[in-house]
Amino acid sequence: MNHKFGSITVYVEQDYDAMSSKAAEIFSEEINKHPEAAFGFATGGTPLGMYKQLIEMNKQKAVNFSGITTFNLDEYYPISRDNDQSYYYFMMTNLFEKVNIDRDKIHIPNGNAADINKECTEYEEALTASGGLRMQLLGIGLNGHIGFNEPSGSFSRATHCVQLDQSTCEANARFFTSVDDVPRQAITMGIGTIMMSESILLLANGKGKAEIIKKALTGPITPEVPASVLQLHRNVIVVLDKSAAEGIL
Ligand code: F6R
Repeated sequence: MNHKFGSITVYVEQDYDAMSSKAAEIFSEEINKHPEAAFGFATGGTPLGMYKQLIEMNKQKAVNFSGITTFNLDEYYPISRDNDQSYYYFMMTNLFEKVNIDRDKIHIPNGNAADINKECTEYEEALTASGGLRMQLLGIGLNGHIGFNEPSGSFSRATHCVQLDQSTCEANARFFTSVDDVPRQAITMGIGTIMMSESILLLANGKGKAEIIKKALTGPITPEVPASVLQLHRNVIVVLDKSAAEGIL
């Protein structure tokens, strides 16, 4: 089922698997249409099903990653690339090592950079030099964050360093031994970086996300709900499972 919220197209699918299939179909079509373009990737639990589908599609030659450049949204700081909780490790094991991607064209912020501000500037510059993103994949945090752009008094612009909210550390603690092991800082694309993408694909599943999806798509546009800024973008597709869509249907 396809609904419109302003300029945002929303697909509501039966369950997580159907959401993942729809997302994989949309993302792979975009890659096949623009095989040499740059694409933005996300980590987290939400896109895992979509990544599994993309791996399968790649095996069957239904999507070709060989010409694309990739930029991930974010990375913890400090963290080393071989730490199995790093987003680098996540992307390699859950997608990049399993598809025909050119490793030299993968960009993930360096969580071990000596100079974090320099890393942020260079990351943004590399993204701009690539010609900009064709499609950015997003999940959404329970507090409305996109990337690691937490609720705040203003929308951030370019890639920058952030302090993570306690609620985000707690939500992510499930992947670490304890909440104390979750790094307190991160490097993230800014809201400005995300909004420059030609198109945006946002995914959410589960009852827990219903409230924030409602706020993001139908509430006031405010940096207190960072995802609400997407109402101002001209080309956003949202794919939800039924539970995450409960608040808007
Ligand atoms: C991940 C990211 C985060 C997640 C969000 C939702 O790269 O930037 O904004 O998309 O925290 O996470 P999950 O999918 O685990 O609910």
